[in-house]
Amino acid sequence: MQLSLAPLQGFTDLVFRRAFAKYIGGIDYFYTPFLVMQNSGVLKSSHKREVEPFLERKDDLIPQFLGGSVEEFQFFEKYFSDLGYEKMNWNLGCPFPMVTRKTKGSGLLPHADKIKSILSDGYSSKIDLSIKMRLGLEDKQEIFPVLEILKDMNLTDIIIHPRLGNQMYKGNADRDFFKEVQDRFDFPIAYNGDIETQEDFLSLKADIPNLKDVMIGRGILRDYWLPHKIKGLDIPSAEEKKQILRKMYAEIFDTYSSFLSGDTQLLQKVKPFWEYFSSHFDNERKVFKGIKKSGGFKKYEQAVAFAFQQNVKE
Ligand SMILES: Cc1cc2nc3c(=O)[nH]c(=O)nc-3n(C[C@H](O)[C@H](O)[C@H](O)COP(=O)(O)O)c2cc1C
Repeated sequence: MQLSLAPLQGFTDLVFRRAFAKYIGGIDYFYTPFLVMQNSGVLKSSHKREVEPFLERKDDLIPQFLGGSVEEFQFFEKYFSDLGYEKMNWNLGCPFPMVTRKTKGSGLLPHADKIKSILSDGYSSKIDLSIKMRLGLEDKQEIFPVLEILKDMNLTDIIIHPRLGNQMYKGNADRDFFKEVQDRFDFPIAYNGDIETQEDFLSLKADIPNLKDVMIGRGILRDYWLPHKIKGLDIPSAEEKKQILRKMYAEIFDTYSSFLSGDTQLLQKVKPFWEYFSSHFDNERKVFKGIKKSGGFKKYEQAVAFAFQQNVKE
């Protein structure tokens, strides 16, 4: 079984992934947050930065895109394969109304025929394709006609986050329904959703013993050593963890400083990082509140110093 880090827009960008791979590890492969094609047929520079510099091993990284047309599909297949990637991931899960209204992300799930025509007319099998999806936009039954189409498409992976698009992140991931889906199709489906602790993982494996791969997002951002715990790898002591987190944070901060201009931009980038990072420390709520409330740069640095005065959780 392989473990991947879920893409989280704003959190698991190149800077984070590189630092994670260097200081923590334990992940088998990474995904980029979704890239989109601008109307003009080009990418934003922040999106290009995700895939173009080749700073990661390309076989560890699967670039993801969001799109709802043959044109977008063809654009990304060519773009990624020209860059040398061997696999790409199509996002059929994004739940945001701004996206779903345009029949993209989970907004495509009620339209199995459209998914079929995009794949038949757009995909030329230049590189491998995997799909990350939810159960549907408004109704779980939407997944069945979609999987009927996908099962003949030679995909390398289907990853299901068992929620509906219109749920956003409310309620629980529906493991029972995931199982039902898996039982009806004889290809392996990877699981994603709400694995926050080693206990969650063990109960998932007990519920679904023949599970293929597992993708974890927020659980890993809140506990960087969750993959180690799941895989039975050695875990550093709390004091060692603190040293590692310090180095990792410094590298992430320095890298952002090297290409973001001005304190405002920099703070806009690093403050949200603490939403998950603060979970590593005792008094995590106080730590995060301090960061969030810190106005300018000086106060921010004081809040960071306060965080590193706390003990790191085992
Ligand atoms: C802030 C945020 C950003 C996300 N960005 C993406 C994205 O770019 N692409 C994607 O496929 N899923 C995205 N997701 C969904 C996650 O990849 C994942 O499916 C979801 O968080 C459930 O897994 P988890 O409970 O392990 O976090 C995002 C989720 C969050 C909370």
